[in-house]
Amino acid sequence: MIFRKEDGTAVALEDRRAHRRRPLTAGRLVGDTLVCGYHGLEYDCSGACTKVPGQIVPRGTRVTAYPCVERDRFVYVWMGDPRRADPAKIISFASMADPAWSITKVRLGVQANYLLIVDNLLDLSHVAFVHDSTIGNAPVAEAAAVITTRRGDAVRITREMIDVPAARTYAEFGRHRGRFDRWQLSEFRPPAYFFINNGSAATGRR
Ligand code: FES
Repeated sequence: MIFRKEDGTAVALEDRRAHRRRPLTAGRLVGDTLVCGYHGLEYDCSGACTKVPGQIVPRGTRVTAYPCVERDRFVYVWMGDPRRADPAKIISFASMADPAWSITKVRLGVQANYLLIVDNLLDLSHVAFVHDSTIGNAPVAEAAAVITTRRGDAVRITREMIDVPAARTYAEFGRHRGRFDRWQLSEFRPPAYFFINNGSAATGRR
């Protein structure tokens, strides 16, 4: 569960109480204290139980708290080994916090390992087949010059399709009549950052 303290700081806790394992989110937030709605146990923002009504708090009673940092309108939660949480490794998405940019938010739940989404986005040849009624057509798979580069932990795949027929979405909304140049840049930076840059231009105008 994620909530804000009274000073606005974001907090991330495992959504499971120490007592009876019910979800913490079924309780309520009173100031910076989480109060369970079943037997009234209270927890602070570090996940430590601070009160058991009518009893002494058993030593070590707590729920898991995750390192949590807010940047560029994102809340970053580290659910791995807390000793390895390093805010310095958070990538800047400064444009997301820039009011000059407009932002679209989409939430997509996937019942699978997130690395399969990384795989999907790195290999955009699938666009030719999965999205063949919109943004895909055969040249995406058959006429792309593909370059893979690696920098540190990051991997970038650049696909360029030069002087190819425009796929349907590009023809109808991008107003590319006939042939055009198209590019797709996919970059994955572990553990879970992904950048995609898709673009197009009239042939030879890029
Ligand atoms: S289940 Fe929350 S206090 Fe008992």
